Amino acid sequence: MSSSPTKKTFVVTRFDPDQDEHPRTDTYEIPVREDWKVLDALNYIKDEVDPTLSHRWSCRMAVCGSCGMQVNGEPKLTCKTALAEYGDTVVVAPLANFPVVRDLVVEMEAFMEKFKAVKPWMIHAKERAAEEGTYLQSPAELQAFKQFSMCINCMLCYAACPVVANEPSFLGPAAVALGHRYNQDSRDDGDAERNEVFREDGGVFACSYANECSEVCPKNVDPAAAVQQAKLLNVLDWAKSFVVPRGGKS
Ligand code: SF4
Ligand code: FES
Repeated sequence: MSSSPTKKTFVVTRFDPDQDEHPRTDTYEIPVREDWKVLDALNYIKDEVDPTLSHRWSCRMAVCGSCGMQVNGEPKLTCKTALAEYGDTVVVAPLANFPVVRDLVVEMEAFMEKFKAVKPWMIHAKERAAEEGTYLQSPAELQAFKQFSMCINCMLCYAACPVVANEPSFLGPAAVALGHRYNQDSRDDGDAERNEVFREDGGVFACSYANECSEVCPKNVDPAAAVQQAKLLNVLDWAKSFVVPRGGKS
């Protein structure tokens, strides 16, 4: 059963690209319930106080990845983050390191292009004949990549990453984790193609291992581990290229 409402103050970043040269903040004091998430408060503000507020959300269950914002300076999934974690004043801003479209909504285009760059689909060296049957995979082979497939594309790791902050072209934690996920999949033969992307300027070797990405990930994906593993595999692949031609798994 929900407890009775108390009041909290929300300092929310506002930006209207048609009118504002720079972002500003609006302050709202609203009644909140102890069991609310940050997103509940934003929805209350939009529904009951200021319908001009723009923010993005969909599932309300930490699955769609669309509700990421800076809450008191840290990247958070607002549908998963309890208001009870905060004091009387909560500061909500758009995700750091992304261009702002409006208010709390950020531009995702460049992020999605980075995902496409790592070819996040199964690549097979040759077509499999129907009589060969389906691909089989052992539990151990599944474990090699399973955690990296839990990413919900929420972009929190990009907002936390100091390398992205200084070098926006950096491929970034989630895209590397996704490419690495396919490289580690025993059914896939695309690692040579993805490693070319990983080795480019702004690829895995641009990472300075701050580990902030893994600390903020709401799905325990550990993208920092993916980046370090991808670095190691690329060094080994590079060394191996002096002995055998690149391509395929060995
Ligand atoms: S790796 Fe984690 S923080 Fe980064 S986009 Fe995926 S789920 Fe979000
Ligand atoms: S609304 Fe879908 S992850 Fe938060």
